[in-house]
Amino acid sequence: MASTGPRIPGRSAAAVPVRWRKEVERILITDRQIARRIRQMSREIQREFKGREMVVVSLLNGTVMFLADLIRNFSLPLRLDFMGVSSYGAGTESGDLVVTKELRLDVRGRDVLLVDDILDTGKTLYRVLGKIRALKPRRIRTCVLLNKAERRTENVKADYIGFEIPDFFVVGYGLDFAESYRNLPFVGVLHPHVYKLGCQKINTVPKKKTRKTNKKVGAGMRRQNHLDRRKP
Ligand code: PRP
Repeated sequence: MASTGPRIPGRSAAAVPVRWRKEVERILITDRQIARRIRQMSREIQREFKGREMVVVSLLNGTVMFLADLIRNFSLPLRLDFMGVSSYGAGTESGDLVVTKELRLDVRGRDVLLVDDILDTGKTLYRVLGKIRALKPRRIRTCVLLNKAERRTENVKADYIGFEIPDFFVVGYGLDFAESYRNLPFVGVLHPHVYKLGCQKINTVPKKKTRKTNKKVGAGMRRQNHLDRRKP
């Protein structure tokens, strides 16, 4: 049942488009690789959900591109809902998760496919799975585009994984740094100077206006701080 996906090497032959070259060090996964893998995943998921009405629950905001491309490949009937979970406390050591949008659909007795863009420490997926299980679905399967296994702190796994990736600071295809870069059609590795500069700038903005942004930087730095020392 579980699909782990290809392990991505540190480099891709594809060149970063000129427009992004100052900020994106290199492309880790090209748009073509993403599209091909998503087609494979959607076939595998459909096989498992055949004959059932699927409720797709997607986590805001990073899943925007992945979700759209995944579900357009499905020919099964499905209903779609979103949950919002954010680690507002991530700038601190607590990293507490806050639910910013609850599910509206009733999932009791139904087959749920939970979609997220990246499985990193696992805190988000662990928390959300707990909430959904409490609603008594018939079964839950989890699907993520990217898996950073080496970063896991929670005992949680995804059933379907697009790509296993190393611990790089990745942006694009829905993934952000301080809410930017979500629109890149590929998954790329951010230049260290961008997030270092970004943190300095953002940390000088009045707190009131940057709650979300500081949280994003906090999350970013959690992913990033050890990368400085072992730049690929
Ligand atoms: C990101 C990502 C995952 C989560 C993974 O969400 O979208 O949901 O972090 O990290 P974890 O496994 O360590 O919990 P974020 O809170 O940055 O929100 P976003 O989706 O809006 O970018």
